[in-house]
Amino acid sequence: MSALLLTNAREVFGAPTDRGALSILIEGEQITAVSALAECEYLARERNLEPQCVDCSDSVIVPGFIDCHTHLVFTGTRERELYLRAANTPYLEILRQGGGIHQTVQAVHEADEDELVATGRRYLDQALALGITTVEIKSGYGLDTENESKLLRAIQRLKGDHPIDVVPTFLVHSVPLGEDRQRYLNRVVEEMIPAFRPLADWFDIFVEEGVFDIAESRRMLKAAAAAGYCLGLHTNQMHDIGGVGLALETGVRHVDHLEVLSDSDARALIDASDVYAVFLPGAEYCAFSPHIGQIHKLLNMPERLVLSSDFNPGSSPILSPMLVMAMAVWRYRLTDPDLLVRALTINPARMLGFSDRGEIRPGTRADLVCLALDNSAQIPYLGTLNCIRRVYKNGRLVAAPMPEIV
Ligand code: NIG
Ligand code: FE
Repeated sequence: MSALLLTNAREVFGAPTDRGALSILIEGEQITAVSALAECEYLARERNLEPQCVDCSDSVIVPGFIDCHTHLVFTGTRERELYLRAANTPYLEILRQGGGIHQTVQAVHEADEDELVATGRRYLDQALALGITTVEIKSGYGLDTENESKLLRAIQRLKGDHPIDVVPTFLVHSVPLGEDRQRYLNRVVEEMIPAFRPLADWFDIFVEEGVFDIAESRRMLKAAAAAGYCLGLHTNQMHDIGGVGLALETGVRHVDHLEVLSDSDARALIDASDVYAVFLPGAEYCAFSPHIGQIHKLLNMPERLVLSSDFNPGSSPILSPMLVMAMAVWRYRLTDPDLLVRALTINPARMLGFSDRGEIRPGTRADLVCLALDNSAQIPYLGTLNCIRRVYKNGRLVAAPMPEIV
């Protein structure tokens, strides 16, 4: 079996820092030991391994990042919309005029499945080079049965043959332009939800004023739960129309955006004990949101706070976890660097139901990122420099984006 020994790291995230430099022994796809170099070498000999040694004395090692909320498979780009928003046209106004999501929907309708796979692969390659080793991807730019299933099939193909682990979600994003609302909702519930279950493990809805209301969303969530999907929601992004109450009533596992959040909903989330809150600072910045994610109301549920890119061609053309962490400090004034890293590793791992990743200890998957930094508190600080040295997925080197200086 192939073996790897990452030696003498400056810090291994989550491991004690007072016992000198730590090394990581990897056997095949898994971590076998996190310990002093001599102990790892002893273990390797005992197990008849001849590990390839990689000097990590210039690096902090963190778990591979888990980006749990993206819309990564799409075609076309919407850079003009960025400048429209910069000139004060609201996101929902662009959507009402048939732009925004509808523009990407049109591009996706015109693309065939192979094209979606090819574009998706390019973004996934980027994700890997940015240190993301598990990514959730939503559909939601097809809208009708044929195109939504084309997107989900493309996501499935990428899941099958890209080194990144992909978690597919069926997202009900908007009523198609010109379509009768009631007829569309019936089609989602009676046709799409059952048909897409083999293609997606998760189900999500854009719950927002002028998009889907509470009664409509309740009907779809109940159907999705009955079909066996796990549930997430885009909610409380621009308006509070009662999405958090609906989430708690229907067994939703995570609520995302939460830019507008009442004190009573915050308390209800804390009390719920198994619901996660996902914050998307990239979407707040790029949509020029007048609101700020209400994470400070939830700081006493630190193990259920999650950060994610919301990577998409409109509201968040951002993918870098390092940038997401930095923005979370700037925007939310978070002061605990450990929490920032956990919000992109162990917390989303648990949220998505993975017990084999998100932390660095024996028995977990060897999904690791080596960063040329002095300590992990520098990640949200200097992390947006070109400091990603190496990315390992399942014990295999998959990206080494930082050139050696000669
Ligand atoms: O998470 N809020 C709704 N959906 C996406 C945006 C998608 C788009 O603009 O293309 C979001 O921000
Ligand atoms: Fe989103």
